Amino acid sequence: MENSITMIDNRTGKKYDFPIMYGTYPTYGAAIRAADLRQIKVSEDDFGLLSYDVGFLNTASCQSAITFIDGEKGILRYRGYPIEELATKASYHEVAYLLLHGELPKADQLKEWTQKINYHALIHENMKKFMDGFLYDAHPMGILVSTVAALSTLYPQARNINDANVRKLQMYRLIAKMPTIAAFAYRHSIGMPYVYPDTELSYTGNFLYMMFRRMEIKYQPNPVLERALDVLFILHADHEQNCSANAMRSVGSSLPDPYVSIAAAAAALYGPLHGGANEQVLRMLREIGNINNVPAYIKRAKSGELRLMGFGHRVYKNYDPRAKILKKMAEEVFEVTGKNELLDLALELERIALEDDYFIKRKLYPNVDFYSGIIYQAMNFPVTMFPVLFAIPRTVGWLAQWEEMMNDPEQKIARPRQVYTGADCRSFVPLEERE
Ligand code: CMC
Repeated sequence: MENSITMIDNRTGKKYDFPIMYGTYPTYGAAIRAADLRQIKVSEDDFGLLSYDVGFLNTASCQSAITFIDGEKGILRYRGYPIEELATKASYHEVAYLLLHGELPKADQLKEWTQKINYHALIHENMKKFMDGFLYDAHPMGILVSTVAALSTLYPQARNINDANVRKLQMYRLIAKMPTIAAFAYRHSIGMPYVYPDTELSYTGNFLYMMFRRMEIKYQPNPVLERALDVLFILHADHEQNCSANAMRSVGSSLPDPYVSIAAAAAALYGPLHGGANEQVLRMLREIGNINNVPAYIKRAKSGELRLMGFGHRVYKNYDPRAKILKKMAEEVFEVTGKNELLDLALELERIALEDDYFIKRKLYPNVDFYSGIIYQAMNFPVTMFPVLFAIPRTVGWLAQWEEMMNDPEQKIARPRQVYTGADCRSFVPLEERE
């Protein structure tokens, strides 16, 4: 059989031929169907062979046409377009449209898209009361996750997810309301009145306005910072089957409304190994405090005592292309905001780490979170908002993954197997007889 693989089970001597499936690139992502392995049995009543893959290191959980990453070469593309081109030539709205629809919007499509998002930017007044219930020092990511889940109670018709139009409406709502909820969460945490969206501004301009407006009659976002945020949003919009996208697909596969699935995805993003990493990068840089302390800190990372936050990636075994773009953009931002003194520390940390055998051998390079936090801080975002700033643009990625899953004829509820290692069958022991 051509395009197949032959396996021999040494327990039985039996030979099996399994077809190999291919995606766009024959040399990247060829796969066999794990379910085929079930044919491999030692006896009739044998369940069949499973593949064991903790953390999905080598498991393709779906076929997807949204985002392509070649981690060895440091390549990232959305719908075929290199991230470097999108980051320099497109707006976040264009990229969001592209991710969801598969093609860049024409002028009239972009206009309609923008109008739709603007129309849905307000949130129900009840949501404000809901948010008021959080303690003043509640982490904004906790507020975001809970409030997005609570949107589910406002839109009961959203459960009709087999209707493509119903799905579309919820997507507009989610993309539009995320920045509003995020900004309200921040304003709540500092005891400032909520600022309602100004839809004459761009997606990111409006977000800056809702975050930072104080007493100005007309708040005007700085155009350099507005564009920088747009680029940051583009870079964070999707990243194929990462932990939170996997949560979106996994929760979504039991077919609830998208609000609770997005809440689950945002919860997955919150962890320090995923979207919470940029928050940890800032804490790490502050802890290091001084360039002279860098070698000692790296030594601790090498001994396994801690990890260099913002370093390493499951997929990238090369410089994360997003980090490259951000490293360059940091200079433009600092021209407006003044230099963030943590940048020198970060550059030194990167320089020493990239020359060190431990990091070279393990192919540990700076990832997107290494520089994003420094830029966000220079723009005046508090550290606790960093994962929230990741969740806003990633919402469109989660939705694109969800929509693709909903249209996938092979789609099934996510339900992994296990290799059971517990006790064999035994009889119940009454309480008085237990030793
Ligand atoms: N600092 C020091 N050592 C590290 C680091 C690090 N940041 N990352 C991995 N290693 C070591 C790890 O100890 C292991 O060494 P050994 O082989 O001796 O046991 C080896 O490198 C492989 O690590 P792993 O944990 O098996 O790799 P993984 O693919 O499971 O983990 C990761 C990927 C991103 C969770 C990990 O690199 C990490 O914890 N990085 C720090 C957190 C971080 O920056 N996360 C943001 C990821 S990018 C944003 C996103 O897309 O979510």
